[in-house]
Amino acid sequence: MKVVTTIKEMQALVAREKASGKTVGFVPTMGFLHEGHLRLLRQAREENDLVVLSIFVNPIQFGPNEDFSTYPRDFERDQSLAEGENVDYLFYPSVEEIYPSSTSVKLTVHQRTGVLCGKSRPGHFDGVATVLVKLFNITMPTRAYFGKKDAQQVAVVEGLIADFNIPIQLVPVDIVREKDGLAKSSRNVNLLPNERKQAPVLFKSLQTAKEQIERGERDPKVIRKTICRMIEAETDAVIDYVEIYIYPELTPLDQLAGTIIIALAVKFANVRLIDNIILTI
Ligand code: PAF
Repeated sequence: MKVVTTIKEMQALVAREKASGKTVGFVPTMGFLHEGHLRLLRQAREENDLVVLSIFVNPIQFGPNEDFSTYPRDFERDQSLAEGENVDYLFYPSVEEIYPSSTSVKLTVHQRTGVLCGKSRPGHFDGVATVLVKLFNITMPTRAYFGKKDAQQVAVVEGLIADFNIPIQLVPVDIVREKDGLAKSSRNVNLLPNERKQAPVLFKSLQTAKEQIERGERDPKVIRKTICRMIEAETDAVIDYVEIYIYPELTPLDQLAGTIIIALAVKFANVRLIDNIILTI
């Protein structure tokens, strides 16, 4: 595995590999890799000749009161995990390399962002879209891999790729779960012991909603109520949102039909968790 820190070298290496007919699978991350990232790398490894992983904590997707400076970083650990997954190139640029001076163009995402987590993070997806256009131009992948846990990000990237005619195949990858159904997240370690026992109820409530839909329920309000009741009755968590939208457009619906997302976010004492399921009815 080669660690590359400059844009020029990364572009030259990928251009050479692609000229010899190789396909490139790209996994963009902000580092501090966990099982979810490894799943993306494994799928990229299976489906492409080359795998490029980027680690870049992107300052412009953090709000002024968010945790850019304290975002967890451990490059050595990430490097050895990436080596274990047979990554070919690890792109690890500095902030100055990606944003050398004040940028003259910044993208604004004006759909799919005003709901779910985007509602409480104004400007977040503008920063994600802007850095991804740069990373896509630097790594020139055939396919780009994103986890479905952040389904809103997948929806935004889908819109970005379609609107800007970017010749990249978006590959959304299934959520990795613990045996009891809890979606894997680096934040799960911050759950208190009794909260850790309660946390699988999040996925259980989504599964119960799915079963209710399979039995014929089509009213999103009824489904929402089922989920809220279960979380309120079986956990100490405070519900941030439980929402149902058409996916990937993230527009509201009166009757469940087509492809939909049921997404939730809850706050435990020291950690906010998200989960979702995407269904086609
Ligand atoms: O999901 C992330 O880690 C980031 O939002 C991404 C896609 C790497 C862009 O900075």
